[in-house]
Amino acid sequence: MSVKLTNVLKDQEASAGVDPAISNYEDLFNTAKQNGSEVRQQGYEEFNNLYYDLVTDFYEYGWGTSFHFAPGVPGERMETSQQRHQHLLAHRIGLGAGMAVADLGCGIAGPLLEIARFSGAKIVGVNSNEYQLKKARKRTEEAGLSDQVEFLHCDFLNVDAPDGSFDAVYAIEATCCAPDKVSVYGEAFRLLKPGGHFGAYEFCLTDRFNSQDPHHLQIKADIELGGGLLDIDFMPTVDNALQTVGFEIVETRDIATQAHPSIPWYQPLVSPGLSLAALRKAKVGRWMTHHLLRALEALRLAPQGSVRVHTTLNLCADAMAEAGQLGIFTPMYFIHGRKPD
Ligand SMILES: C[S@@+](CC[C@H](N)C(=O)[O-])C[C@H]1O[C@@H](n2cnc3c(N)ncnc32)[C@H](O)[C@@H]1O
Repeated sequence: MSVKLTNVLKDQEASAGVDPAISNYEDLFNTAKQNGSEVRQQGYEEFNNLYYDLVTDFYEYGWGTSFHFAPGVPGERMETSQQRHQHLLAHRIGLGAGMAVADLGCGIAGPLLEIARFSGAKIVGVNSNEYQLKKARKRTEEAGLSDQVEFLHCDFLNVDAPDGSFDAVYAIEATCCAPDKVSVYGEAFRLLKPGGHFGAYEFCLTDRFNSQDPHHLQIKADIELGGGLLDIDFMPTVDNALQTVGFEIVETRDIATQAHPSIPWYQPLVSPGLSLAALRKAKVGRWMTHHLLRALEALRLAPQGSVRVHTTLNLCADAMAEAGQLGIFTPMYFIHGRKPD
């Protein structure tokens, strides 16, 4: 169901505090970035949670219920491309009826519910953001999947489940939020039974990213601030992290390089498309949203601070679109590891 702009951020307990909250997010983010790994680990959860409190309604407004990119084919709606991307992941890691599966960073359960229907697996959605989980639980009930799906409110670095609880674990554009890959992949490894499979779509820098180029560095910094991420890794760092925690690598590859040439992954951010949903994601639609939001905020029909939150998200969207055009970043580095028997 489509979210109205006038409802964005309205449900937040801290609706009156949106403006201080976005300042607080920026402070926490900058502190976490400047500090060493220990302080980053302590601080990241707080700023990440605050980030998702602020942006979830905007994500839903622009993206619907699945907060991730997908390679498209001509004439296909974004939602269909996203479902195909979800099915591919489920198929590759061998999900099947009755399997015990964890979805790390499940958002508001758009992909989770689709994968549950597609595979018949019993899925536990893990999320540290209670606001999203409230929406996820409601959507699960409405979908009639409460017997097959449950949720855990916890950090995916410290999941409240015994070792070896799951046959498979997956994550869609979520492990990029972790302070480092070894911690989050290590937790996925712990949760799996011997022989279990882990699959994810990971944010990565490509080998065209030049660490000496100030413009590339600025784009990376904008994606991180606007996306609530501490650091985007190169693909070999991701592969090494999988092996460091004990996974056998089944496959890793950048799905973006195999996308249809006329529809690169960043297309939704640059081209208005044909539907209202597509328009909202594109630059012109985001510009329109921004100006409408300004008016709503001035009229006190949107919480003070809404425009600042939207500006932060736009920073990320513009940076991602440029990163895609330059070929220096991918949101769909597919990783598939197996825990040895
Ligand atoms: C970009 S969203 C993707 C959501 C979902 N996988 C999807 O594709 O719709 C990233 C998700 O990771 C969750 N997340 C971020 N850090 C987390 C953490 N430390 N523990 C659990 N969940 C986390 C966020 O709350 C959010 O739901």
